[in-house]
Amino acid sequence: MTLPLRGRGPRFESGPAHPIMFRMEERLEWGKLATFVENKSIPIYNWFYYKEGFSRGLVMKFLDRFQPKILLDPFCGSGTSLLACKEKGIDCIGYDTSKLAVLVSETKLIDWDVEELKATLRKIKNIKFKRPPTGHVKKDIRKFFSRYALEDALFLREIINDIDLPVRKFFLLVLINTITKCSYIYKDGSMLRVVKRPLPPFRKYFFRRAEAMIKDVVKMKKRFKRCNASVTEGDARNLSIEDSSVDLIMTSPPYLNKIEYTKIYRVEEYFVFGESSRKGVRSYIGLDTSKRYNIFPELNLPVIADAYFYDMQLCVREMYRVLNHNGIAVIVIGNACFPDRVIDSDILLAKIAKDAGFDIDVIYVVAKRFCTSNRTKKIGIMRESVLIMKKQ
Ligand SMILES: C[S@@+](CC[C@H](N)C(=O)[O-])C[C@H]1O[C@@H](n2cnc3c(N)ncnc32)[C@H](O)[C@@H]1O
Repeated sequence: MTLPLRGRGPRFESGPAHPIMFRMEERLEWGKLATFVENKSIPIYNWFYYKEGFSRGLVMKFLDRFQPKILLDPFCGSGTSLLACKEKGIDCIGYDTSKLAVLVSETKLIDWDVEELKATLRKIKNIKFKRPPTGHVKKDIRKFFSRYALEDALFLREIINDIDLPVRKFFLLVLINTITKCSYIYKDGSMLRVVKRPLPPFRKYFFRRAEAMIKDVVKMKKRFKRCNASVTEGDARNLSIEDSSVDLIMTSPPYLNKIEYTKIYRVEEYFVFGESSRKGVRSYIGLDTSKRYNIFPELNLPVIADAYFYDMQLCVREMYRVLNHNGIAVIVIGNACFPDRVIDSDILLAKIAKDAGFDIDVIYVVAKRFCTSNRTKKIGIMRESVLIMKKQ
């Protein structure tokens, strides 16, 4: 079946294995916006460095273009799309399976009382340091800290846990920011490595970071508008939202072959949630490789790719269900590099979406890079793309 083509731009036929037609246009100048880089210099957006996030600028483009009344991000991560909505006064709903992501997004969206934050910070500063026991901390966490940094982190965590909600969340975020800066953690792709280096003094950094974040609240107060924003720990494959209730979905799911990356936040999670923090990861996209689904039998996909597209099919069907008639889904997705081939996640997702009832308006290619095997043999070109699709 072929899709009617609308608008300008070259026609693209996806090939016999997944025969749909759509426009594919290069927008390589948007490539940086599909990364977290721009957010690093924007107050509040930068309260937690979420490696796999996209930037405010990308969301703003689509909020301006589609002017939704209510937006959903079923993989909200660090809350970029929700914060952009708050700047525009648009109601928004976010879901994520990661407790840490939910905490980060929620904390960024709260209308903070600056005086209350300042008063709490003064109280924390006035508490005399008492060396906490460290013996219970597992080797696997302890190895990322100097003895002093670990003591300071545990001492501050104890104080923070006694603070009432929601202010506790603000200071937990300050704590995880501090852990990132004042530990030997080095995030190397999907791995955490210990890299010994001189570290800033933990407590001093914590206080400075808290002051800077309170200033961010003041700066952004003028920019944020009133809206209803909610963030829930939940699964994009099964959303607790009514049918036909949102206008725009702006999201980016985990990319195929990069799905292990939440492991890189396990130290931060340990300090915020303790040992129970790994629970959420089980509902991650594409992790159940115990069955064969044969989503694209003609492609003979590797097992993990098959499981991934099976889960993405469930997510896309949910997106279709919760969107209003004529509602739009904007999905940022990257293709995947395997030793023998590149898997075109963007086209396969378009095919899944078409089967779910969406009309694929256009695929914008925002980045292209080589997929190599053993760092030398070129396998092909991987795209990072933005799919625009409409519920008919
Ligand atoms: C690419 S990141 C999204 C980043 C986000 N756009 C931002 O700017 O921070 C994908 C997110 O999907 C979440 N995730 C993975 N599986 C999920 C599922 N089944 N349901 C909901 N969220 C999930 C991950 O925890 C991660 O935060």
